[in-house]
Amino acid sequence: MLSIEKYQKAFVTYLNDFATPKAPNSLYQPIEYILGLGGKRLRPVLTLMTTEIFDENYKKSLDAALAVEVFHNFSLIHDDIMDDAPLRRGKQTVHEKWDLNTGILSGDAMLILAYQLFENYEGDTFKALAKLFSKTAIEVCEGQQYDIDFETRTDVTIPEYLKMIEYKTAVLVGAAMKMGAIVAEASLEDQDSIYEFGKNLGIAFQLQDDYLDAFGEPKSFGKQVGGDIIENKKTYLFLKALELSNNELKNELFQLYDNSSIGNDEKVLKAKQIFNESGASQEIKNTIENYTKKAFNVLDTISVSSDKKELLKQFGTALMNRNV
Ligand code: IPE
Ligand code: IPE
Ligand code: MG
Ligand code: MG
Ligand code: MG
Repeated sequence: MLSIEKYQKAFVTYLNDFATPKAPNSLYQPIEYILGLGGKRLRPVLTLMTTEIFDENYKKSLDAALAVEVFHNFSLIHDDIMDDAPLRRGKQTVHEKWDLNTGILSGDAMLILAYQLFENYEGDTFKALAKLFSKTAIEVCEGQQYDIDFETRTDVTIPEYLKMIEYKTAVLVGAAMKMGAIVAEASLEDQDSIYEFGKNLGIAFQLQDDYLDAFGEPKSFGKQVGGDIIENKKTYLFLKALELSNNELKNELFQLYDNSSIGNDEKVLKAKQIFNESGASQEIKNTIENYTKKAFNVLDTISVSSDKKELLKQFGTALMNRNV
């Protein structure tokens, strides 16, 4: 096994060969742009690591890892349109730098390019990867639609929210790992277990994303802090604050999200105050830890050595404590 940094480096080298200029420029430049903006490369690293955890060379899963990262970046271009987001990884979003049509079509092309990468696998491996990818991609669409539907609903429950983030975010983390296991020809049982590990880690990851969206450091976070509050997203912070608040505070929060004349800065400030006062900010931290632990428990059922499991735990702990 290599270190996490080494997998990251190997992946980025491979990615740079993939994202080279092609015509028409106006289609491919935004693709190069978004892929070149960096990001944590969390999903492809997990694919490569999983292949080695199941005793196969990580180089075999580079195309699957690339497919996952290209798909992820496609989903970010379209997500930023849907969320009206100005910033991504500290730079302008694609639809801001170019325009809406560019974001739509370059995104579409990336989805196709992601699929195409599976053609580099033969027979049963190809079939298993493509099948998993299709299932995952449609779930991501469902999750994204729930996320948008929830903006205008006032009766969203925490179980509904958890389902939404499982679909929009966690299934891709699970799939990234399962793909690594498929390439390594791990047993079906181990493939499913590593998927469950990734899915639970993915839920913790999205909860932390929600937390950082409100409480991240504007300088380092790379996205517009408070974006979820501005867009009336029914995040865990919002739903937990409602659950923990008295009627007065509850009404204040509802009014805040229902008031189109309030300035964004004031809205963000007040919502964050309520998230803190209600105890929701502390509660989300506990829930992140619980889902991370749940992921770690799944590891006990997988038949690999404890030092390999340790590396996955290291990775999970770092994600839980990240600030980007
Ligand atoms: C952002 O994902 C979208 C979510 C699912 C929260 P990441 O936080 O992995 O984004 P990058 O790739 O590191 O920028
Ligand atoms: C994004 O969720 C999930 C997908 C892109 C599928 P968010 O909307 O919370 O992601 P960020 O915060 O913009 O990265
Ligand atoms: Mg978004
Ligand atoms: Mg979104
Ligand atoms: Mg977010």
